Amino acid sequence: MKKIVILTGAGISAESGLGTFRDEGGLWAQHRIEDVATPEGFARNPDLVHDFYNARRAQARTAKPNEAHVALAKLEREFQGELILVTQNVDSLHAAAGSQHVMHMHGFLDGALCASCDARWPAPLAMNKTMKCPTCAAQTTRPDIVWFGEMPYQMDEIYHHLSEADLFAAIGTSGNVYPAAGFVQEASAFGALTVELNLEPSAVVSQFEQTIFGKASACVPEWVESLL
Ligand code: APR
Repeated sequence: MKKIVILTGAGISAESGLGTFRDEGGLWAQHRIEDVATPEGFARNPDLVHDFYNARRAQARTAKPNEAHVALAKLEREFQGELILVTQNVDSLHAAAGSQHVMHMHGFLDGALCASCDARWPAPLAMNKTMKCPTCAAQTTRPDIVWFGEMPYQMDEIYHHLSEADLFAAIGTSGNVYPAAGFVQEASAFGALTVELNLEPSAVVSQFEQTIFGKASACVPEWVESLL
């Protein structure tokens, strides 16, 4: 096996104490997506959006990687072929666990972006609407997070990797949000073996050849050992 492509979702960080979106009591049960995760919501009420991400950024900074993150970092170090790790998550737990190359397709909580000049810089713990961009001084700073209706990052590169994958694995994602939910179809169209690791079946479970059910902190280390 020469190339493995892995997609992770909120489920891999659940056991690190970070809430998922669609599980019982998840983030989308507490906040309306249109208010806190769309450009329109941000334009309408930037304070509410900054408060939402400031709270998630503070929580994410206290979270620790779990055995699943650690196992994927080990896979990157020890797998003889090429490993591509794509995450929908905006926490930095993969990097904290030692993964060197992580593609953050939905951006990251620790990043700030200027909506005027596209400058990016490390986000402070708390952001607010009066902050000035360090490059152009405009007061149009926002979290470097990809909102609904916006194009995720590095898509061309990701589709290139999917076309070359021998194995595609989705870990801890519900398969509700595209384009990520369509990656399994893309990979299998190019002949990849596909496996879903999740606590319960995702919305696209039928498109996977293999499924491994259970908590990520238990299943992912076991699965990684089976690959090495
Ligand atoms: N181990 C493994 N899987 C788990 C665990 C666990 N301990 N806990 C929950 N899960 C699984 C759930 O079964 C579910 O399939 O994690 C998944 C979480 O699904 P979502 O909350 O929908 O998160 P995700 O799929 O990452 O959402 C995708 O939607 O809101 C947007 O941009 C946001 O990146 C996010 C995207």
